[in-house]
Amino acid sequence: MTLLEVRDLHVEFRTRDGVAKAVNGVSYDVGAGETLAVLGESGSGKSVTAQAVMGILDMPPGRITGGQVLFQGQDLLTLPREERRRIRGARMAMIFQDALSALNPVLTVGYQLGEMFRVHQGASRKEAKAKAVELMERVRIPAARARVGDFPHQFSGGMRQRIMIAMALALEPDLIIADEPTTALDVTVQAQVMELLADLQREFNMGLILITHDLGVVADVADKIAVMYAGRIVETAGVKELYRSPAHPYTKGLLDSIPRLDQKGRQLNVIRGMPPNLLEIPPGCPYNPRCPLARAVCRADDPPLYDVAAHRASACHFWEEMFDGR
Ligand SMILES: Nc1ncnc2c1ncn2[C@@H]1O[C@H](COP(=O)(O)OP(=O)(O)OP(=O)(O)O)[C@@H](O)[C@H]1O
Ligand code: SF4
Ligand SMILES: [Mg+2]
Repeated sequence: MTLLEVRDLHVEFRTRDGVAKAVNGVSYDVGAGETLAVLGESGSGKSVTAQAVMGILDMPPGRITGGQVLFQGQDLLTLPREERRRIRGARMAMIFQDALSALNPVLTVGYQLGEMFRVHQGASRKEAKAKAVELMERVRIPAARARVGDFPHQFSGGMRQRIMIAMALALEPDLIIADEPTTALDVTVQAQVMELLADLQREFNMGLILITHDLGVVADVADKIAVMYAGRIVETAGVKELYRSPAHPYTKGLLDSIPRLDQKGRQLNVIRGMPPNLLEIPPGCPYNPRCPLARAVCRADDPPLYDVAAHRASACHFWEEMFDGR
């Protein structure tokens, strides 16, 4: 059984100016021990999709208007709130970009880590503290025993991010969603934290959804990619396949906008224009105002996700013109 299957998810936000269609029929799946990277520009619906999966979407203003979130075969969207809360933390956990706002500033990190065991497993204070030290060692925080009584602000950004990873791992969940987990860190620290996350994922055989803008990070750690645009998935593929031969003009645009070691001296192209206003997504293919391949049919017909090869799909009418079949 697939660990997580999101099927045709729709999420809207009611705002003063109208209804923002943030997620429009997203489907993806993640298996045990597998990493799915979710990629796309700001506002493409990556976080909102993740929040709907985790059950932490702000409702209102958000509203799930369709779809299923099957976790180990069970549709989470139909579960009572209490049951969802139990699953969250114990069986699925989330890591955010900003550890400082996710951690409580007036409680020691040891207390916050230990709380997971006190609340969920009825551990004593002493047991909880020992578990907290163990977790801090697991995420390679130096001098864990001496630092278990420190407060979040006494740690560096990278160390705080490790503490958040420790918190997510505490109850050994089956699925972790990491939403831009390293974006706020220096480049070298980013790499260390990413490596740690990847190691722990392998060790625990967890499913991982990694949300990121960073195509470089993706190449190193992910098995497969879902590229999002205007609240839809526009391309899905294995990482290697997608890098070798994108089958959607938007993916190609993203790839052309990053420096690559294997193509020194190549000119970098930035995708022209802006993502659409979600209050008025253009008719036809939502990418058409920015797409170099767009023509009349693109302004009229919204492309479905075409199967372009095994485990590969592209939402472009003209995928065959760009895809070389590899
Ligand atoms: N609380 C909210 N109220 C109203 N609209 C919202 C809210 N949260 C998200 N949205 C809408 O949903 C859209 C998608 O947001 P989301 O946070 O999923 O983007 P993202 O892909 O994660 O972008 P980023 O890379 O910037 O994190 C936003 O552009 C915004 O219009
Ligand atoms: S359907 Fe048309 S506008 Fe959309 S990505 Fe393909 S070529 Fe571009
Ligand atoms: Mg986001």
